[in-house]
Amino acid sequence: MKTLPKTGTPSKDVLAALKARHREDANWKAGRTFSLVYFAGDEVSSLLKDAYTEFMSENGLSPVAFPSLRQMETEVVSMTASLLGGDDEVAGTMTSGGTDSIMMAMKAAREWGRKKGLARPRVVAPWSAHPAFDKAAHYFDLDLAHAPVGSDFRVDVKAMERLLDENTVLLVGSAPSYPQGVVDDIPAIASLAKSRGLLCHVDACLGGFFLPFAKKLGRAVPAWDLSVDGVTSISADLHKYGYAAKGASVVLHRSAALRRNQFFTYSGWNGGLYASPSFCGTRPGGAIAAAWAVMQHLGEDGYLARTRSVLDTTAKLLAGIRATPGLAVMGEPVGGVFAFTSDSLNVYELGDAMDARGWKLDRQQKPPALHCMITPAHEQVAEVFLADLRDCVARLAKGEPAPEGSAAMYGMVGAVPDRQQVDDFLLDFLDGLFPRG
Ligand SMILES: Cc1ncc(COP(=O)(O)O)c(C=O)c1O
Repeated sequence: MKTLPKTGTPSKDVLAALKARHREDANWKAGRTFSLVYFAGDEVSSLLKDAYTEFMSENGLSPVAFPSLRQMETEVVSMTASLLGGDDEVAGTMTSGGTDSIMMAMKAAREWGRKKGLARPRVVAPWSAHPAFDKAAHYFDLDLAHAPVGSDFRVDVKAMERLLDENTVLLVGSAPSYPQGVVDDIPAIASLAKSRGLLCHVDACLGGFFLPFAKKLGRAVPAWDLSVDGVTSISADLHKYGYAAKGASVVLHRSAALRRNQFFTYSGWNGGLYASPSFCGTRPGGAIAAAWAVMQHLGEDGYLARTRSVLDTTAKLLAGIRATPGLAVMGEPVGGVFAFTSDSLNVYELGDAMDARGWKLDRQQKPPALHCMITPAHEQVAEVFLADLRDCVARLAKGEPAPEGSAAMYGMVGAVPDRQQVDDFLLDFLDGLFPRG
């Protein structure tokens, strides 16, 4: 068991040890990974570090002690609301990330339902919606019904309608969805919600700081934001295409009255009066300051330039993948997120072959697919990625064995009909990853 060192280590040695560990990590700056990190250039990174460290010790839990954080958060929320079609009535908060924003929208919907006398409110969400909705349902004891998606991977709104019952409080759509990067028919979902007197949440964790700029660049972006009648809340992640430091997202509600349902207060504690706007207690000041700083620094033209880069790189990659025999892009992705599959090759083996060449593509299931999240860092590697992809496909098609990787595990998991067994396997996996917490 690792124990706390008896004596301290000089800071320069600690930093050297940290840097050595860091060198083992995914090389996202070189555009070799396709998820988790959104790199907007060295200048932005250095600003984020400076802004974060300036406020690294401050705690956004107390707006009284740190009025600067309150002001920055208010400005971030306001800039986000104006970007996402909101008016002066819209109210929101910053949160620690997409899951947190979704948790807050779900918690607000639960309280809204309880005020109407519903003991166990229910949510209807697309099957393709992010698992954060399932996690929130699990934490907040909500029922969650999954609506199927159509052949275009967008949610089937008629099926959603059939899933409504007297306990339903909230309908969900994604703009875009994580798995295939397609935008659900938000006007249809919002109109269904409104006609039944229900809430409607749009998960724009990926699209919130991307789609508005894609639209300004003249791309065809379906309606999805607060300008759509019936949309009552939106989650939008600053730490994705907002290019902020990790730990920053925004949740917006159509009105302050709706937002109130997300708050938590407890006035009976002998430690004092407690009021917390979002899930976390302590709210890292660095994440708020860095988000504010990057929005000021990039401004609309900075976001437009990065969005253009992502759109152009994505178009190049999609064209290359579509032109590769045996590969097919799934649905019509709207931004920089997409997946591709194959009816002639084992795509998990293709993923392993690409891994062996230093590319890290995420694996998907139902059907097996490989997933890409494009950032400005991928502009430099699009050609070489496609050349490697074509070569790997050609070799697999000739029957060359794939290098050893995760294909066997994915194949095995896909063949297990009992999902509980797979969930147990995932719990074992987590236990193994963090043996002592
Ligand atoms: C569409 C969508 N919603 C929600 C989330 C959850 O965000 P986070 O990982 O920041 O909690 C993600 C993450 O990729 C996402 O793609």
